[in-house]
Amino acid sequence: FHVDIDAAQADKGTYPFYMLKEIDEQPNVMRKLSQVYLNDDGTPVINADLLDAIKSADRLYIVAAGTSYHAGLVGAKLFESLAGVPTEVHVSSEFAYNQPLLSKKPFFIFLTQSGETADSREVLLNVNEQKFPSLTITNVPNSTLSREATYTLLLHAGPEIAVASTKAYTAQIALQAILAKALGEADDQAAAKDFDVKQQLALVANGMQALVDEKATFDKLAKSALLHTPNAFYIGRGLDYAVSLETALKLKEISYVQAEGFASGELKHGTIALIEKDTPVIGIITQQKTAGLTRSNLQEVAARGAKTITIVTDALAKPDDTIVLPTVDERMTALLSVVPGQLLAYYTSLNKGLDVDKPRNLAKSVTVE
Ligand code: G6P
Repeated sequence: FHVDIDAAQADKGTYPFYMLKEIDEQPNVMRKLSQVYLNDDGTPVINADLLDAIKSADRLYIVAAGTSYHAGLVGAKLFESLAGVPTEVHVSSEFAYNQPLLSKKPFFIFLTQSGETADSREVLLNVNEQKFPSLTITNVPNSTLSREATYTLLLHAGPEIAVASTKAYTAQIALQAILAKALGEADDQAAAKDFDVKQQLALVANGMQALVDEKATFDKLAKSALLHTPNAFYIGRGLDYAVSLETALKLKEISYVQAEGFASGELKHGTIALIEKDTPVIGIITQQKTAGLTRSNLQEVAARGAKTITIVTDALAKPDDTIVLPTVDERMTALLSVVPGQLLAYYTSLNKGLDVDKPRNLAKSVTVE
């Protein structure tokens, strides 16, 4: 007799959905990037021509869509702080038809998991026409954006099947950290020389493992705080704001909760009017400089009835915090603070009985503008 084996199904192993498998793979993706792009002594292994091309630029332009755009927001801070190069981040579909005034020597970085996003490709075609150098950072070898850019770096995250991107996001951030370190070192920048990216990625991998081992906690929290709410907010400042945007996107795309990521200081300028009794507001606090400010923004919403949840690094934690993250270098915290948001979105969707991997109206790779 004949047994029909669905190969994709088999790949999932014992996981009910690809998304959970892909969340769980993140520690290994961090280790893999470290193996591929860093020597034993922690020095980066990046193509010298690529480094030269970026070094001769006066400004980096990161162009991406969706989750990749959110990874770019984190990457920009890494390029600026480790390599001292001014960096702008743009949404592909906006940049394509409203190109800002460029610097004299721009260098373009396309972040794209699939390497096929039409919005990003449209920008690359324009960039090529203008003869500017470019790099595509992608998970898919030989993809369109990889073939058409001057240089490519691969994410080595393994196939990402779930529509909601998880491991590609963290891989994009980790690889940008490595590239920023390489650039800064090539330019003799002290910040880059003092930054032990290899050690940080090892700490991040262990921290991610500790978080994904706590699935029952996130399942419970999703049930109590997010399952029955029509809306929710993620708030933070700086890097924590960038992660707020990504975790809010995760929640909305797979659980259909209307979620917004907000700069925590901006909430009081209008959006706080939406806070009602029991509105979930999740504060991300990983940056020492702004921890106190975000905490007072959380108190302001709590005073108006919000149900507040905190995601805080160990170094900044207080006894009542909800989720405590292991401490890593402040420039790398996005790699850990995003994981609770991924798991909260996953369990909200799962507990609603939705198809976590294939949310309505969405496609994994969007090849139309
Ligand atoms: C689609 C996917 C998103 C993804 C975006 C950009 O909209 O549903 O998850 O972030 O495209 O995809 P890319 O492959 O360019 O990273």
